[in-house]
Amino acid sequence: MLSTKQDWLQVLPYAGLLGCLSYIAYQAYRKPRGTRINNKVDKEKDKVVNMVDIEDVADKTAYCRCWKSGKFPLCDGSHNKHNAENCDNVGPLVFKKKE
Ligand code: FES
Repeated sequence: MLSTKQDWLQVLPYAGLLGCLSYIAYQAYRKPRGTRINNKVDKEKDKVVNMVDIEDVADKTAYCRCWKSGKFPLCDGSHNKHNAENCDNVGPLVFKKKE
């Protein structure tokens, strides 16, 4: 039994080791908690990939990089609201044909 102070001091290193191992195991197996970028586009898919035939690109086409567009993968200007609300500076990728 742990009835004296001396008994507790003998157990302390083992309790500390157990605590450290538990923390390491928790960190190794917990789910990452980063901020999600994509909160609405094709959430049922493992990965969102969009293919665009280069022949179909108009003279100038803007593609969304903020994941907020209602017309994804095209930019609809939603990044402006996101930037204003979050002090961010994201914007579209614009393809433009040479003149
Ligand atoms: Fe996403 Fe414009 S709406 S970059």
